[in-house]
Amino acid sequence: MREESPETELRCKERRRFLQALAGAGTAAAAVAAVAAVAAVASLAACREDPKRPAGVEIPLSKLPEGVRVVLPVGSQPVEFRRTGSAVTALSLACTHQGCEVLWVEEENGYRCPCHAGTYDALGNVLGGPPPAPLRTIPAEVRGNVVFAHL
Ligand code: FES
Repeated sequence: MREESPETELRCKERRRFLQALAGAGTAAAAVAAVAAVAAVASLAACREDPKRPAGVEIPLSKLPEGVRVVLPVGSQPVEFRRTGSAVTALSLACTHQGCEVLWVEEENGYRCPCHAGTYDALGNVLGGPPPAPLRTIPAEVRGNVVFAHL
């Protein structure tokens, strides 16, 4: 188990308490705090106690509005989460060429890499440019009201 400083341990406890409080908050309050919640969830991933465990996040399902693209770091990768009904998909936004973060381009219905103009379709398949492989799908599992995703 990794040793954490008292300050780090306190920050991790505060983040967990904050997320628990948000989980019990009403819809309006939750919507206002969504950005803070996303940041707290992401930073909570840094509070892993076992460095051998794969990097991952736990996201309250209520923080993933239907059809909205929510980007969170999972380990060192930006991952886009999208909810459709009770299902959640997660796609790594790390370009498979040299790792730059790809961006969603609504007009193109796909992703574009700002580094060397690689392009991907909406599912992450390569359309053009130097990327050698599709964007990576990250396993995301919905258990009750929580989404678990890990690399
Ligand atoms: S890093 Fe994305 S195309 Fe080169």
